[in-house]
Amino acid sequence: METGYGFGKTILFGEHFVVYGLPAIASAISNKTIAEIDSADEFTFIDERPETPGYKVKKKDEIQRQLGALKNHFKKDNVRIKLSGDLACASGVGASAALAASIARAYNQHLKLNLTDEEINDVAFLAECAGSGKASGIDNTCSVYGGFIIFEKNLPGGKNIMEKIPVDKPINIVMASSGITQTTKEVVDDVRRLKEKNPEKFGEIFIQYRSVFDEAVNALEAGDNVRLGQLMDANQKLLTEMTLSCHEIDEIISLAKDAGALGAKLTGTGRGGTVIALTPDASIQDDVLAAIQDSGYKAVKTSVGT
Ligand code: MEV
Repeated sequence: METGYGFGKTILFGEHFVVYGLPAIASAISNKTIAEIDSADEFTFIDERPETPGYKVKKKDEIQRQLGALKNHFKKDNVRIKLSGDLACASGVGASAALAASIARAYNQHLKLNLTDEEINDVAFLAECAGSGKASGIDNTCSVYGGFIIFEKNLPGGKNIMEKIPVDKPINIVMASSGITQTTKEVVDDVRRLKEKNPEKFGEIFIQYRSVFDEAVNALEAGDNVRLGQLMDANQKLLTEMTLSCHEIDEIISLAKDAGALGAKLTGTGRGGTVIALTPDASIQDDVLAAIQDSGYKAVKTSVGT
């Protein structure tokens, strides 16, 4: 039996903006999906990943398309694949990219292909696109490489731009699930329609985002987490103007901020999914976790930049 892993991810700045060629900042989180692969008489898939209730049912077709793409790519379907790990599947944590990266790594071991990380990333991207339509590539890039990255989609096609941001210390965060699973393609398509209807409004929002992004890179490099938190709040405000927030996201953000988070925002697709809250130390991380859980939401402590 061979194994492979794929990190979960969180987007700190720039979900949706990245679709239009603006840069984003993302990071792997320490939680990951593990794929085990074995030869078998016929294709068997066992999914033991923890999940937000309903996630796997809602994503059933998407998962099947991803598996189909991976089997086709590696030209071997008489295998048994089992997924597990400590990444709880939910919208916004890069679960589908972690599936793709972990299985691509497992196949690579199983077939003794000696693929580089870049090649693994290409396969994971292919599986992401098969699963959810036109993906930007940000999720699989985090899932394969780990650490903080600046990611910029190459709109005309060709390789996306990816640059590692060296950060001295991992940053504590809390990730909370709104309990709502969204389909990324549907939300991305809807935002595109809104943008086409309101080009001036979106143009203005994009300009504001660009300066939030530039300041965020400086804050990360300087280790200024207080400023980073303020900029996450500013990014959330712009996402709200783009109709990407919802009651549950707003409630989780308020709970986190009241308990001492430096900043909080939705991460990933939005209109549900996951919220990330930046916490200055382990004690406030515990307070934020407790405040969110006491209100009935599922949440975990994790870190970015590890
Ligand atoms: C989803 O995690 C992030 C989006 O920007 C879509 C994408 O980049 O593919 C909403």
